[in-house]
Amino acid sequence: MTQTDRPAPGAPVQTTTTTDRHGRTIHLGGGVGTIDGRETTGFTIWFTGLSGSGKSTIAHILEGELRRRGHKVEVLDGDVVRTNLSKGLGFSKEDRDTNILRIGWVCEVLSRNDVVAIGAAISPYREARDQVRAKIGRFVEVYVEAPLEVLADRDVKGLYRKAMAGEIKGFTGVDDPYEPPIDPEVVCHTDDRETPEQSAEKVIAKLEELGYISA
Ligand code: ADX
Repeated sequence: MTQTDRPAPGAPVQTTTTTDRHGRTIHLGGGVGTIDGRETTGFTIWFTGLSGSGKSTIAHILEGELRRRGHKVEVLDGDVVRTNLSKGLGFSKEDRDTNILRIGWVCEVLSRNDVVAIGAAISPYREARDQVRAKIGRFVEVYVEAPLEVLADRDVKGLYRKAMAGEIKGFTGVDDPYEPPIDPEVVCHTDDRETPEQSAEKVIAKLEELGYISA
């Protein structure tokens, strides 16, 4: 965020209050708002979708574009978080929810300190995602959608083959649930319909429209 987006020291905070489509109050105005009562230019972009759908790829393209525009950005990728903060957690509903709430908490802390936090984990359960949304408020949900057949066909990590052969149990989308968002701010279609760059551009356009970043 550029200096001009911040109010001069001592100046009244230029925020406007509006209601998002979920009926929740969000504070907008030159990219500044509040989280936990703290004034911040930060916010959270939350990617959700099946394994291999392209969440990380789009998240990192977005990271580059937001940095280019002067924002501080941090990506919290499920695969990476599971090697440190969530090391030892498995894939039961309880462990997945714990993982999501941990990632959500870090996103919240970063977001209230002028950082754009990008979460990129499967986050299969709606309730956990909505809990994180409710805590942060300045939260943009991106559903990365691709048909299971396409993902199983691509099988970048070779995990779908194993899951379908029964070698991995409880794999999301195969024999474990995925609850798609009901009303996400952005939907990216990562079959042949759009490139990762086009998906990232859709997110940027939505962030501009919502007033989180300047056009
Ligand atoms: S989440 O459900 O807790 O949000 P997260 O995004 O951190 O999942 O991790 C998902 C990654 O773990 C997948 O991309 C895949 O590489 C790996 N993985 C291993 N076992 C499973 C499983 N049973 N279900 C889904 N992903 C799995």
